[in-house]
Amino acid sequence: SFRVTLASDGRSFEVAPGRSIVEVLGENGIEIQVSCEQGICGTCVTRVISGVPDHRDLVLTEKQHAAGDRITPCCSRALSDELVLDL
Ligand code: FES
Repeated sequence: SFRVTLASDGRSFEVAPGRSIVEVLGENGIEIQVSCEQGICGTCVTRVISGVPDHRDLVLTEKQHAAGDRITPCCSRALSDELVLDL
């Protein structure tokens, strides 16, 4: 599991295996717009402030994956212990 932290107020939430970032944040009142929830449409793309994304989407380019400054929180995860998102 990893932690997702909101850059705006520093709140942090644990994302367990099998859960998505979108699910965990939604339960805590932070709604991210989604559509496909499968990494295809790009609706949920969110800026990454720090941490290393584990990209599971098909919508961002290889270059964008390598840059690591954006993530699809509907399906992607983290390789680092923490991801700080621009939320
Ligand atoms: Fe479609 Fe995340 S909701 S890529």
